[in-house]
Formats: sequence, structure tokens, C-alpha cells
Amino acid sequence: MVKIAPSILSANFSKLADEIKDVEKAGADYIHIDVMDGHFVPNITMGPLVVEAIRPITKLPLDVHLMIENPDQFIESFVKAGADYITVHVEACKHLHRTIQYIRSFGVKAGVVLNPATPVEMIKHVLKDIDMVLLMTVNPGFGGQRFIMSVLPKIKQVKELIDQEGLNIEIEVDGGINPETAKLCTDAGANVLVAGSAIYNHEDRKKAINEIRKTL
Ligand code: DX5
Ligand code: ZN
Repeated sequence: MVKIAPSILSANFSKLADEIKDVEKAGADYIHIDVMDGHFVPNITMGPLVVEAIRPITKLPLDVHLMIENPDQFIESFVKAGADYITVHVEACKHLHRTIQYIRSFGVKAGVVLNPATPVEMIKHVLKDIDMVLLMTVNPGFGGQRFIMSVLPKIKQVKELIDQEGLNIEIEVDGGINPETAKLCTDAGANVLVAGSAIYNHEDRKKAINEIRKTL
């Protein structure tokens, strides 16, 4: 079963609680939260305070995507704020294995993220220690960008590695996901689809989510 994770980056922040309840009612599976620090990516968004404020609004798992330098420094704050998944960029971690262990030490699910230009080999040796692989299908930093097709073979590669080892790891894709690109990703092996603009730019979120599901 494919899961849909609306990214609140494209929501209306002046009524964030309603925007979250709306996608929960519409059948979303996770709430995807994009944390940006203005260093790792050229944009600044939200931090632990926003996660904490969102926590009581929804029963859905909070999928916190850290696009920040030195993620270790902030992991505990995001755990305390109520994150269920914390994903860190391979490109931002000096000691990836240590960071993953640290996230898991709090009983929170750990994921690793690869930018479009980062090879799958970078995570081969931590696969047994993670719950999720997130493949960026745009360069991180902004919502509403175009899907990068050259990531598709990487999804397949991750899927094959996971199956070879008989592991139970979610494969999430993030960026430029719409009804057309969603199908390409799930065919390649993805099972969690992040979608920001494709859901929040629609007046009717249920329709937007169903349009994605319909094509799979
Ligand atoms: C990009 C973020 C994405 C973004 C996706 O850096 O990680 O989660 O919000 O937005 P869309 O679906 O509009 O590409
Ligand atoms: Zn994201």
C-alpha cells in the first residue's frame, strides 16, 4: 500500500492547523515537515517549535525532513517536539552511522536522504540500521520544482538492495510528485510519496490525493 505524505511547506501558514486537519481528513498517511536552515539549502522554514505546535493537531505520524547542517545538534529538540520519523541528509552528516544510532536511541524512526546527485552507494553500509530511505527528486530548498527524471534508476537500485538483503525499509520520494511522476516512482519501488504543491495548491485536497492514488 502506497502512502501519501503531504508536505506542509506548500500549506497556508496563517491557518496551519486547518491545513493539517484537512489533509488528514482527505486520507493522508503522514505529515511531511520540511526543516531548512539557510545553510544546507538556500531557504529558511520551520523548527522544533512548529513541530511541537502541530503535534496535538493530528494523529498522523510526523515525518520530519531535516535539510540542515549539523543535524545532531537539533535531533533531541525534534524528538521532544514529537517527531515520529527524522530523516537526515547523507551530505550533511560527518558520521552518518552515529547520527542514525542517535535518532534511534530515542525510539524514533531514522531515515537517510540522498540529493539527486548523491550516489546510492553512500548508504549501502547503513541500510540495516535505518527505517526509511528518502530520495530527493528535486534539489532540496523549495516546493513546486520540476521532477528530475534521472533519479528513477536510483529508486530501483535502492529497492533492489533492500530486497536482496530482505530488509523492511520504506522508500520515500520527495519533490515534483504529481499524478504522472507518482506512478513512475511507485513502479520503480517507492512506497511513500511526498507531495506539496500537488496537494496544497488544490482547493479540494481529497480530490488531489485521490488523483495521485488513482494513477498508481
Ligand atoms: C523540497 C522539500 C519538499 C517540497 C516538495 O526541498 O523537501 O518536501 O516541499 O514540494 P513539491 O511537492 O511541491 O515539489
Ligand atoms: Zn521534504
